Amino acid sequence: MTELAISGTYFTSYGPDQVQTVKDALIMIDQAGMIQRILKPSDQEYKQQREKARQQDRLMELQPGQYILPGFIDLHVHAPQWPQAGLALDLPLAQWLNHYTFPLEAKFSDPAYAQKVYHDFVHTLLANGTTAAMMFGTIHFSSNMILAKEAVKQGLQGFVGQVVMDNPDQTPEYYRNSSAAEALQSTEKFIQAVVDLQKQTQRTIEPVITPRFVPSCTDEALFGLGRLAHQYDLPVQSHLSESNWEHGYAIERYGQNDTDVMDHFGLLTDRSVMAHGTQLTEKDWQTLRERQTAIAHCPISNIYFGNGVLPVKRLLAVHNKLGLGSDISGGYTPSLYHNARQAVKSSQQLTDGVDNHLPSAKRG
Ligand code: GUN
Ligand code: FE
Repeated sequence: MTELAISGTYFTSYGPDQVQTVKDALIMIDQAGMIQRILKPSDQEYKQQREKARQQDRLMELQPGQYILPGFIDLHVHAPQWPQAGLALDLPLAQWLNHYTFPLEAKFSDPAYAQKVYHDFVHTLLANGTTAAMMFGTIHFSSNMILAKEAVKQGLQGFVGQVVMDNPDQTPEYYRNSSAAEALQSTEKFIQAVVDLQKQTQRTIEPVITPRFVPSCTDEALFGLGRLAHQYDLPVQSHLSESNWEHGYAIERYGQNDTDVMDHFGLLTDRSVMAHGTQLTEKDWQTLRERQTAIAHCPISNIYFGNGVLPVKRLLAVHNKLGLGSDISGGYTPSLYHNARQAVKSSQQLTDGVDNHLPSAKRG
C-alpha cells in the first residue's frame, strides 16, 4: 500500500555525464519507506493515483522552487569523530591522530557515550540528505553495535566497520588492539553480530572489514583481514596514500607503495573503498582499476591533510571507480552537498594552479 505520494520535479543521474530531470512526477512510497513506483504525468494512472492520494491525505506536493534529489551516499565517514567535526584542524595527519583523534575515539569504550554520540550522528547525516554511508566505528565491539542499531532504527543504510589498529609502533597503548589475534577474533564476532542484526531488519546494514590504514596495522592483522574479507565476501574500507607521510611510510616499511601493500594482503577487491588517494601514482590507479577498487574522494578533508588535490577529472577519464566522502572529522561537515561544491572548487584550482610566481601556462 502507498503510505505517501510525493508530487514534484526530481533530478537523478545515471553516470558522471548523465543527469535526468523528471518534471511533476508522482513518487509513491510504501510503509517501509521504499519507492514503490514513479508515475509521470503522461502515464495513464497518474491523475487517478494523485487524486486518490490527495483524498486519503497522503499527498505531499512540492512548492515552486523545491526539488527532489536522490539520497547522498557518503563513502567515507568516521562516526566516532562527530563530536570533533569542525574542530582540531590545525595539525598534519600523524600528529592530528595522536593529539586529538585517538583520545576521542578511545572514549567509545563507554557504551553510554557511544549511544549519545551515535544517535545524534545518524540523525544529522539523515538531516543532511545522506541516506547511505560507509562508516568507520572504533575498536570497541559494543559501541560499534550501538552504531549499527542506531542506523537501522533511524533508517540510514550502509556499512559499519570495526576498526583494527594493533601496531604498537604507530598506535598508543590506551587505544590499540591487544594483539592481531584479538583484533581478528573481535572483528569476526562483530561480523556475525551485524549479519544477525541484518536478518531482523529490512534495512541494508552490512559489516565492512576495516584496517584503519597500513601504518596502524601489523602484517598479521592485514593478512587476517584480507582472509576474512574473502571468507565472508565482505567489503573493505581503509585509507590509501592520503598524505605525503602515509605514502612515504609504506615505502619505508615495505619498499612498496601503499597500494601494493594493500594488494599484497588481498585487501583490494571490487568491494573495497579506499579513502583519499591524493598521493597515488598512475601505476597505483591502474592497480585499483584492475581490482575494481573504488576511491572515496574527500575534497574537504584533503585540503587539510591530503598534501595535494586528487585529480578527479583524470581519474574519471581513465574509468577509475570514484565516489564522495565527508571524512568527518578530517572534513568538517556532514553535508555531501558541501563536499560536492569543494570537489568543483579544488578541481578548478588544480586546473589553474595556485603559484603566481609561475607563468600561467605552467601553473596548473
Ligand atoms: N588515517 C588513519 N586514520 C585516519 C582518520 O581517522 N582520518 C583520516 N582522515 N585519515 C586517517
Ligand atoms: Fe578517514
